[in-house]
Amino acid sequence: MATIFSGVQPSGFPTLGNYLGALKHFVTYQEEHDCYFCVVNQHAITVPQDKLELRDNTRKLAALYLAIGIDPKKSTIFIQSEVPAHTKMGWIMQCISYIGELERMTQFKDKAQNRVAVSSGLLTYPPLMAADILLYGTNIVPVGDDQKQHLELTRDLAERFNKQYNDIFTIPDVHIPKVGARIMDLGEPTKKMSKSAENSNGYISMLDDEKTILKKIKRATTDSEAKVKYDKENKPGVANLLTIYSLCSGKSIEELEAEYEGKGYGDFKEGVADAVISQLKPIQERYYELLASEELDAILDKGAEKAGSVANKMLAKAERAMGLERKKRKK
Ligand code: TYM
Repeated sequence: MATIFSGVQPSGFPTLGNYLGALKHFVTYQEEHDCYFCVVNQHAITVPQDKLELRDNTRKLAALYLAIGIDPKKSTIFIQSEVPAHTKMGWIMQCISYIGELERMTQFKDKAQNRVAVSSGLLTYPPLMAADILLYGTNIVPVGDDQKQHLELTRDLAERFNKQYNDIFTIPDVHIPKVGARIMDLGEPTKKMSKSAENSNGYISMLDDEKTILKKIKRATTDSEAKVKYDKENKPGVANLLTIYSLCSGKSIEELEAEYEGKGYGDFKEGVADAVISQLKPIQERYYELLASEELDAILDKGAEKAGSVANKMLAKAERAMGLERKKRKK
């Protein structure tokens, strides 16, 4: 049995990209492994957030975790800020990381660009992410492609700590799906689909209704060839839609290419929209039920308790290894 950890930021509501690249895979681990799924609200405040929206989005994301099928009897679901060991370990990780390596993170460079005031949290966010993962002795971290560099840093920090202080951390492996690790923006298919995109036509929110999904997919950028063929380089828009279609319908890309041979993009896009709607609709129905129930808070209270008791043990080991304790331990 392996330990699995992953997290999603409650900054806005997850997109189809978050779902296909990460969330959809979470449930596949819980039958056989010890899983921790965290709503990483302390990561979200590295950029300004409206406090009421952040509070709402935190709860909503936890409800979504349940709606996609994460079972609280099998997995631990919790809110990052409710387990203080994360920021304490985050500080330890900051102290063993170098400014140079943090400045090289492409997400930092992207997010810091065009900002007047760049918070220091934006720079030191990857050590907090490392802390999230290392606190649980995590073996596997399922994420989308954009988190790969952060995972490499996590491994480096764990190895550095183990060598300098004491061999306490498990070195985690990253699991990135073969298909769908980077779902692209519908309007600009050379850019990643992101919930913070300025133009909301570029992404599908997991809560978009049928009409909106159809409208956004119909507007999606394609090309003038009118041929449904997977060619990422020359036909990035069509390739992205084929990826989405395949993941939402369970049909292979080759099957879809054959199905739409000789047909135009109009038919194809309707097919994509139908597949997306049938994937998201049952999740949305469960989500609205859960959000209105009292069950959610009880699950999150229990999750924080369970995660806290595991995380505190690892934190104590790390603090001891660094001399952050007052009394000598009895042998
Ligand atoms: P976040 O909230 O930006 O994204 C959550 C997950 O969704 C994946 N993802 C995508 N996958 C495919 N296509 C896309 N367009 C797309 N956009 C996002 C991300 O790769 C991610 O897996 N730093 C993390 C949150 C985090 C975390 C952790 C993850 C904090 N601590 C510990 C794993 C383990 C983040 O900002 O994800």
